[in-house]
Amino acid sequence: MTHTPKTIRLADYRAPDYLIHETHLHFELYDDHALVHAHLVLERNPQLDDSLPPLVLDGVKLELKHIALDDRVLGAGEYQVDEESLRLQPEKNSFTLDTTVRIEPQNNTELEGLYRSGGMFCTQCEAEGFRKITYYLDRPDVMSSFTTTLSADKQQYPVLLSNGNKIDEGEEGERHWASWEDPHKKPAYLFALVAGDLWCVEDSFTTMSGREVTLRMFVEPQNADKCQHGMDSLKKSMRWDEEVYGREYDLDIFMIVAVDDFNMGAMENKGLNIFNSSCVLAKPENSTDAAFQRIESIVAHEYFHNWSGNRVTCRDWFQLSLKEGFTVFRDAEFSADMNSRTVKRIEDVAYLRTHQFAEDAGPLAHPVRPAEYMEISNFYTLTIYEKGAEVVRMLHTLLGAELFRKGSDLYFERHDGQAVTCDDFVAAMESVSGRDLTRFKLWYSQAGTPVLQVSDSYDAEKQEYRLQVRQNCPPTPGQPVKEPMVIPLATGLLDAVTGEEVRGTQVLELTEASQEFIFTGIASQPLPSLLRGFSAPVRLEYAYSREQLAFLLAHDSDGFNRWEAGQQLAIQVFSEALTQQQNGQTPAFDPQLAQALSKVLADTQLDEALKAEIISLPSLAYLLELQTEADVANSHVVREALRLSLAQQLEQPLREIYQQLREQARATDYRPEAGQIGRRRLQNMTLSYLMLLEQDDILAACIAQFEQADNMTERMAALANLVNNPVREQAEQALAAFEQEFAVDPLVMDQWFSVQASSPLFSDTAQIRQLMQHPAFSIKNPNKVRAVLGAFSQHNLPQFHAADGSGYALLAEQVAVLDGLNPQISARMVNPLTRWQRYQPRQQQQMRAELEKLQQLPKISRDLFEVLEKSLG
Ligand code: ARG
Ligand code: ZN
Repeated sequence: MTHTPKTIRLADYRAPDYLIHETHLHFELYDDHALVHAHLVLERNPQLDDSLPPLVLDGVKLELKHIALDDRVLGAGEYQVDEESLRLQPEKNSFTLDTTVRIEPQNNTELEGLYRSGGMFCTQCEAEGFRKITYYLDRPDVMSSFTTTLSADKQQYPVLLSNGNKIDEGEEGERHWASWEDPHKKPAYLFALVAGDLWCVEDSFTTMSGREVTLRMFVEPQNADKCQHGMDSLKKSMRWDEEVYGREYDLDIFMIVAVDDFNMGAMENKGLNIFNSSCVLAKPENSTDAAFQRIESIVAHEYFHNWSGNRVTCRDWFQLSLKEGFTVFRDAEFSADMNSRTVKRIEDVAYLRTHQFAEDAGPLAHPVRPAEYMEISNFYTLTIYEKGAEVVRMLHTLLGAELFRKGSDLYFERHDGQAVTCDDFVAAMESVSGRDLTRFKLWYSQAGTPVLQVSDSYDAEKQEYRLQVRQNCPPTPGQPVKEPMVIPLATGLLDAVTGEEVRGTQVLELTEASQEFIFTGIASQPLPSLLRGFSAPVRLEYAYSREQLAFLLAHDSDGFNRWEAGQQLAIQVFSEALTQQQNGQTPAFDPQLAQALSKVLADTQLDEALKAEIISLPSLAYLLELQTEADVANSHVVREALRLSLAQQLEQPLREIYQQLREQARATDYRPEAGQIGRRRLQNMTLSYLMLLEQDDILAACIAQFEQADNMTERMAALANLVNNPVREQAEQALAAFEQEFAVDPLVMDQWFSVQASSPLFSDTAQIRQLMQHPAFSIKNPNKVRAVLGAFSQHNLPQFHAADGSGYALLAEQVAVLDGLNPQISARMVNPLTRWQRYQPRQQQQMRAELEKLQQLPKISRDLFEVLEKSLG
């Protein structure tokens, strides 16, 4: 980047001057370059006037070799090329354009466009990667039919794939070729190709109308035994989308390819999804339960995009949440149906509150539909995805399941084959419900997390209970003042003595800054259960006493709110002790928490998964998120002391549960299904408490679990416990054994890196630097960067925030290196530094200084530039 990047604004949206009806591509792939021949059939956009403005095609890092307009080769004066575009003057309404460009996939470290991963060629085009492949109108509202021919060396690249159906293939000496045709019009961001020496696992699926679809997973040969779970997840997703949304798959073949070098999780290219191998490959001996569950949800996510994203796509990138928010909501509901609904909700809410709320409160806050950006890659955010999904969930709550389904049917029917906006989505919901959702749409345009302040009163004489609710939303960059929003507040009332439900869940609809809700016929002062199931992405404030929280934890009929009551109780107990610690006193912990948790452990009605969630303390990151000035060091000390104190008070039940569950695990064949996953989670959670007691028999049990378990979930938990306890020698032995066993598997080595990098006891900055010297580490591989630098800066908070600033310096130094290789990753990795305002003055200074140094880089990407500029203000 040589000049300041310009800001792109939603308000400036204009329909495309030209349309591309047909796109015919021919790729000649070689080891040191690729030639891309494009034949485009274009037309002046008939919706616009009949002038003929210049045609400006996007193109970045392309070497133009040939150009012809309507078969006539253009002379040097007849077109202009600059760093980002190709401009020429059409002479007719309808015309064809032929170009040939030369590119170098082997030197593409950005992993955007056409690049090499391991021994194969692959692509990533969303959002604006297609322009790195050929000159094009690289915008989602230009939809075209595609044919693609690829040619490559037969030996090295026996498999040649692109979107749609294969229509032809052949050989020419050492080389061979294949032609693919995608019958569905699509924007360029959904284009994909793959060439490599790949193993294929095949299956099939019969759709609801009886069509047979061939399912293929392509992986490197050594991963052939890690495909079953991905394939099973795909078939479940296809069935679920038929049953729950009435959506049928629309091609005869669906392909998934796993690649090791990938910026994100996966990509929904039409008929040819490309996955980060970490998000699709698994087998029990190598992969944890969390990996199995992540795979199930991401396979579903990408598959669901076939309707929510591909058949109906986005008009422009400001509408990104139209497809991402909706699709995350869809995959979350799918996972809830496949596993424990309550636990899935707990996980998602914990993640949202820790990370999205932080984003919403920081310098990078933006609405679900942003109004402007410099680099769209920076907007694949928690707000677009996770908060966007919460917005769709609220529509679901407000309309009810049945009307919501009618609305989604109407949306798909009205807009099939179109590129549309978030307004179109809401309009379909308005049509089927007859509701005016204008005010609701503030969720798309206002950034920030609303705060609900709830108070109540009871009138015994009138038998009347009143809830007073005030809402307000803090200012965010560019939005000093907010309007009141429409907020569904799911509420139940409990008898404060017996815990019986006196009013079942009712969705109160907030629309004003301040409102009162009156419940009549209430015989005694009730205890409210508020925001059940986390019915809106807000911060709730109600002055519960610890006794009331313990009571809700014991009695609430809403599983989510039972967990939430336990979390709030833990937060209160923690906060009191933190204040003591900060004042130089020894922190003391209210025994009410241990008492409440001991009841949970003894409860025979509760399943293990929920028990495990309830006894988990809020993460350090979340506890810090709640503080006005985050005190990392003291919070870490106090949280660890609280864990130890709970372990001491609950030792007996923890020991019993651990032993029983470990026995059970030994006696059962591993399966990644919800019941077992919950039991293993509780088993490993109890082990992590018990290890704090530093007793020999527990250490021996942990080592035995590490050595003997037949699955990665138990092994990795045991390893993490060794690494996170002051038993350095045993930890090092286990790490060495593990490394030896799994050195050849990069996905397992990612876990090996990350378990060390995440541990404050085990890894200071010096250790992180050592990990980066390990032969299995590569700064060019995003999974490795995330496993070491990501884990360090996001999970090893005490060391990342070390008093001497060395953690910040390490991250900034590596961000600088990354920015020269892969701007999407550098702009993401720098994120922990961007929240400098949250910390103590000295830390603020250190963090700012690192950001300012980065700003001075002689060459800086647009991605990183935007993040730095916004966070330094
Ligand atoms: N659409 C993909 C998904 O939902 C993500 C693509 C990310 N692309 C990017 N440039 N950040 O899962
Ligand atoms: Zn997506």
